[in-house]
Amino acid sequence: MRLLREPATELTPTDRLLRACRGEPVDRPPVWLMRQAGRYLPEYRRVRGETSFLELCRDVDRAVEVSLQPIEHVGSEAVILFSDIFVPVPSLGVEVDFRPGPVVAEPIRSLAQVERLRAPDPRESVPFVFEILRVLRRELASRQIPLIGFSGAPFTLAAYLVEGRGSPQFGALRRMLYAAPEVLRALQARLVDLVVRYLDAQIEAGAQVVQLFDTWAGLLGPGEYREWVLPVHREIAAKLGRGRAPLILFVGGGPHVVEAMAESGADVLSLDWRVDLADAARRIGSRVSLQGNLDPCALSAPPAEIARRVRALAAAGRAARGHVLNLGHGVLPETPVEGVRAFTAAARALGSAT
Ligand code: CP3
Repeated sequence: MRLLREPATELTPTDRLLRACRGEPVDRPPVWLMRQAGRYLPEYRRVRGETSFLELCRDVDRAVEVSLQPIEHVGSEAVILFSDIFVPVPSLGVEVDFRPGPVVAEPIRSLAQVERLRAPDPRESVPFVFEILRVLRRELASRQIPLIGFSGAPFTLAAYLVEGRGSPQFGALRRMLYAAPEVLRALQARLVDLVVRYLDAQIEAGAQVVQLFDTWAGLLGPGEYREWVLPVHREIAAKLGRGRAPLILFVGGGPHVVEAMAESGADVLSLDWRVDLADAARRIGSRVSLQGNLDPCALSAPPAEIARRVRALAAAGRAARGHVLNLGHGVLPETPVEGVRAFTAAARALGSAT
């Protein structure tokens, strides 16, 4: 990562994030956290106590309030739309419930089920998502805080649709890959269309950066990843078009697929904590920037220890084209708020240290 020489040129949070994503010089790495609006925050629990999770996602005023909480309460430097990767899925014609993760009433196991799926226009089926983004963008303009949109990636959406619910190994999904590949292929093709339309509409509504969450793609071996996941990421990156909003790609459990991730066309690779950032940077060269990757459980350490780890992470990130400080996965509900504050405070302090 190249640092700006001139300390007087302090960047706005929006410029800092966009520049780090594109690999341009910055004064210090920007910082935000995946799943930063969530159950670890008492302010979130208060709003959530008044309504169900899905209602909260549809309620523009409350979703805006919850999206902004990490700025006010823990010092994050970017806002991510408050929603869930499963919000656009019911409009395919699939019944989904949250307990607390997504549960699908009738898991998809046949080609006939895939063929019955609808091809919704997200602007019509989930208009509230874009309204939340438009309001957030207006609210954030004066503070120059960047707005991040997101979508689940086809493989991870398919994982829940086929399995029916979260699972440590997603055996039904992985068996389908070998026993009924045509079903998984058809399902992913439908989901690519949905994801491209959904992210395009989010960018149009004001998202300045978009992140694709492929939480479960790391379950595959390197060969299967290249066959089943990489082409899907490439198709999405190509169809979204470059230059509109940088694309961040998160893959959970993916240290063995970092090189393949770098071929996706994404601008930033969000890595989980099982890979060393400097090592990843050496493996991929200067094609893409990196995001991450503190173990979310490390936020339970004393503040001084968190600060030490943030400094080490930033030092490792300098080997990359650009670096966005973040966790290696989402903030966990058990996380002390103090730990999250220590993380963002240490990131901000890097500016004065370098
Ligand atoms: O990052 C943010 O703050 C934005 C909001 C956001 C949520 N989910 C809110 C949420 C984002 C970006 C997601 C993404 C998501 N959802 C992923 C990909 C990222 C990842 O963590 O791997 C996945 C796999 C899901 C599916 C999902 N939704 C699960 C497994 C769960 C339950 C477990 C959990 O971690 O909370 C949810 C529910 C959910 N999504 C909650 C929140 C705040 C908790 C719901 C509640 O309040 O009861």
